[in-house]
This record gives sequence, structure tokens and C-alpha cells, in this order.
Amino acid sequence: MGRVLLGNPVVAASGCFGFGAEYGEVYDISRLGAICTKGLTLRPRAGNPPPRLWETPCGLLNSIGLENPGVEAFLREELPRLKRTGAVVIANVWGASPEEYEQVVQALASSAVDAIELNLSCPNVPGKGMPGRDAAATAEVVGRARAAARGKPLWAKLPPEAPAGLVAVAQAAQEAGAEAVCAANSFPALAVDIRTGRPVFANVVAGMSGPAIKPLALRIVYELSREVDIPVVGIGGITTWEDAVEFIMAGAHAVQIGTANFIDPYAGPRIVEGLRAFMEGRGLGSWEEIRGCAHR
Ligand SMILES: Cc1cc2nc3c(=O)[nH]c(=O)nc-3n(C[C@H](O)[C@H](O)[C@H](O)COP(=O)(O)O)c2cc1C
Repeated sequence: MGRVLLGNPVVAASGCFGFGAEYGEVYDISRLGAICTKGLTLRPRAGNPPPRLWETPCGLLNSIGLENPGVEAFLREELPRLKRTGAVVIANVWGASPEEYEQVVQALASSAVDAIELNLSCPNVPGKGMPGRDAAATAEVVGRARAAARGKPLWAKLPPEAPAGLVAVAQAAQEAGAEAVCAANSFPALAVDIRTGRPVFANVVAGMSGPAIKPLALRIVYELSREVDIPVVGIGGITTWEDAVEFIMAGAHAVQIGTANFIDPYAGPRIVEGLRAFMEGRGLGSWEEIRGCAHR
């Protein structure tokens, strides 16, 4: 994946794997290609009031609001343990302003994280969570982060929709120095509590993830991978190894697994093994042989 060496293309998605400690009690998390941390901010954040999760028959709505211990506590308390597992670590970053993104990236630049993923698209912080909906705002955040990251690989994680189109946003991220675009974050969605007649979540809109969004995310990856020169990481509803193959065939260089971890804690290694068997069965020497074949 660009300058980040992954043992396989399966990455744990941000916010669905914490800092790897709980899953690490269940299996060796270095079997995954990489671990994306929970979104990190400059200061600790308590997150949104409950309820924060709402199940639907085909996916999950969340409104966590970026609860995290802050970047300094992460570097002190979580990263050393995470690195000892042997996992490749990608730090997911969010800022309330371009300056805050820059400061968090600066704090990570000289750390042992293997790459930084900018979350340009948090649906759960009203008003300021979504620079990724706009090409100019994306260019500013990625440009500042690029300088602050010094030599660290930098990825840009996009929202699932942008008023002037996601392609322009992805291209802006690329031009500003992102080495990969990750698509996508959860979809803005709504649930109404029919007992009260009110929206379930305090922020009204929450992020939809899980199996229902897979075809939508697949279409985004298909379109973006045609329009940018940097790798595209596919995210959205991936639950089985077959889903992951679809994303690779649509053009993805790697995939991230989010909500599926909540359904089955072994989802990550199960998908890794399924991909391995698929490669062997098809006699593939490299994913390059089928990457983007859906375009041809
Ligand atoms: C509970 C929860 C928390 C999340 N937290 C973050 C986060 O902190 N940063 C981020 O970039 N994405 C976050 N996401 C989005 C996921 O990383 C992923 O983009 C999205 O859920 C779609 O993938 P999935 O359908 O496989 O879950 C979160 C998703 C969920 C369900």
C-alpha cells in the first residue's frame, strides 16, 4: 500500500477495533494487514451522550462522537503495547480545525506509528466534522498534515458523499500529498424512536455502517480508483472474504473491516484466510492480477 508494507490487504477499520487490546485477547492481531486506531484528537474527548448505537436489520447507526483519550495518552499508554503485538499501526486523526489536525499529526510524526489516516469525515460532530465534503477544505487539511507528518505515510479517509462530487475531493487530497484515499466513512442516516416521536440520537443524524452500505461503498471505490493515481482503500460493509475480493476487483489496494468485527470478533482473520485460499485456488501470484478487473 504505497510506502506502507502490509502482510495482507485486510485492515481493522477505525472505531471498530479500539486500540486492539480486546481483540488481542482473542487472536494474534498481527495476523491482520494493519490496525487503524480509534480517531485521535488533540485533547481527550468524552464523546456524545447515549444512546450511541442503534441496530437496524441490515447495519448499524452510531453516534460515538470521537470518544478517545487524546493523542498524548495514546502515545504514552496505547502505542507501546500495540507495537509490541507486531501489528502495523495506522493512527486515525480528527481535528476541529485545520490547525488541530496539524497539531495531532505533529505529535504523531516522530512516533512509532506506521502511517497516519486523516478522518476528513466524522458524521457525529455537528458543524465541523466534515472537511472531506469540500475539495478546498480537504486540500488545506491534507496540505498542512503533509508538512506536519514529515516522512510519515499519510492517507485521507473520505466521507461517502460530497456536494460537488467525491472525485474532486479525492483528487484534491492526492494533489495535497495524500498517499492513499480511504473510502468511505459511514453514511449520514436517521432513526426515529416511535415511542417518543423524536430522533433516537441527540445529534439527530448518525453514521450508518455494515452490510447495507457495501454496494454503495463499492460503487465509490470503483469510481475513485479510475480517477486517482494513488491507492484506494475500500471500506463499507465488508463482512466476508468474497466482499473483499469484490472491492479488489473494483480497484481497491486494501480493505478495512469495521462493523463486521462486532458481528464476529474473528471477522478479520476469517477474511485474511479466505483471501489466502482464494489466491491459492485461483493460482494468483499477486493481487495485481485481478485488481480493477471490473473496469476492463
Ligand atoms: C462504532 C463506530 C465508530 C467509528 N469511529 C470512527 C473513527 O473514530 N474514525 C473514523 O475514521 N471512522 C470511524 N468509524 C467508521 C468506520 O471506520 C468505517 O469507515 C465505517 O463504519 C464503514 O465500514 P463498515 O461498514 O465496515 O463498518 C466508526 C464506525 C463505527 C461503527
